[in-house]
Amino acid sequence: MMRKMSNPPHTKGESLTKDELIQSLIERVEELERKTLELRDQNQQLESEKRYNETQRIRYEREIRRLKSEIEQLRSPPLIIATISDVFDRNRVVVRSSAGPRFLVRTSQFIDSEQLKPGARCTLNQQSLAIVDILPSNFDIRVYGMELVDRPQESYEDIGGLEQQIIEIKEAVELPLKRPDLFKSIGIKPPKGVLLYGPPGTGKTLLARAVAHSTSAHFIRVIGSELVQKYIGEGARLVRELFELAKEKSPSIIFIDEIDSIGATRMDMDTSGDREVQRTMMQLLAEMDGFDERGEVKIIGATNRIDILDRALLRPGRFDRIIEIPLPDLKGRMAIFEIHTRDMSIDRSVNLKDLAMMTEGKNGADIRAICTEAGMFAIRAERSKVTREDFVKAIEKVGVDYHKHHTASPFGAMYA
Ligand SMILES: Nc1ncnc2c1ncn2[C@@H]1O[C@H](COP(=O)(O)OP(=O)(O)OP(=O)(O)O)[C@@H](O)[C@H]1O
Ligand SMILES: [Mg+2]
Repeated sequence: MMRKMSNPPHTKGESLTKDELIQSLIERVEELERKTLELRDQNQQLESEKRYNETQRIRYEREIRRLKSEIEQLRSPPLIIATISDVFDRNRVVVRSSAGPRFLVRTSQFIDSEQLKPGARCTLNQQSLAIVDILPSNFDIRVYGMELVDRPQESYEDIGGLEQQIIEIKEAVELPLKRPDLFKSIGIKPPKGVLLYGPPGTGKTLLARAVAHSTSAHFIRVIGSELVQKYIGEGARLVRELFELAKEKSPSIIFIDEIDSIGATRMDMDTSGDREVQRTMMQLLAEMDGFDERGEVKIIGATNRIDILDRALLRPGRFDRIIEIPLPDLKGRMAIFEIHTRDMSIDRSVNLKDLAMMTEGKNGADIRAICTEAGMFAIRAERSKVTREDFVKAIEKVGVDYHKHHTASPFGAMYA
């Protein structure tokens, strides 16, 4: 352009074309500038798109890595669960797998040697059987299931006619937990536990629940038959863990209901099942000896077959107090009637003493059933109050039902 500008002008027509040329050139430049801007815009856009795609790619790569490790995990073989039974050093640990045999194994270096303790549960690699991990809790889930978290509803007021027994159980269980100093100052060891025995339906379980209601101690309830397990040594381990849990949560009360299912007299029996039950009981005896009397763990046992219980369970030092829960007498039956009719709307014709006299030989559970049945009769007759008539019919009905179930037919006897 400079060169053209410097050329001398020739004709008017030529200069015009020159102007035109300049004009067109200017236009061209402007157009080019516009184009540049446009392209720059486009470039920016592509640039940001590229950045977006880049992050997207990174995200997908991460996802792939995650899925790959997930697949890896799903493909990895299961770990064997075992219990550590002895520790020599980090590389020599004796474990017993849940299937039975014992192994001397190595441990992963990531395991804290603090955690390598006999009794801890761990996982083993399937091939090398090396300890891979220590499981957090060494209690059986079943033991945790036994712990009563909610306080039972029943209180001492809901028990009729067992005043003396309530005093005894309070002394033996509640007092040592609430006032251990009393025993210290006198210099005697408080009882370790009590055994409640008596005929069915007389309120043994009820009494234990009332104790749990009135103390703030942890209440752990097991039924004897729950401690009878399928595999050898399992029952004994459950008992051990039960007491460990009780100690950990102390003050606590262990309530073993229907204790006769593990505490029956040892005899020369041959089936392995019986021997396993005996082992469970021996563990129970050992645990009851083992813990300190002043420790804050109390045991309550309940049974209606004290006659078949092993003598070792009954000797002082195990259950120090053996409390009989008899069939209720007249006064007792009256009290029980009073408790179970507390919330019923009763006609004036009903005299509780009368009812108590009519129910000689009945237990607390019967009396509760009688009250319910009497209520049912009133409902059936569409009355708003329960009359004496209803109670009399109910007593008859409950009595009949009882006899129907308890007179064994010859066929029943054959299968019994
Ligand atoms: N003394 C009592 N006072 C009030 N209610 C009672 C009494 N005894 C029994 N009952 C009633 O009978 C029900 C059953 O009693 P419980 O379960 O305590 O019997 P148990 O003595 O444990 O019998 P088992 O030996 O068969 O286990 C109780 O829930 C309660 O309603
Ligand atoms: Mg019971």
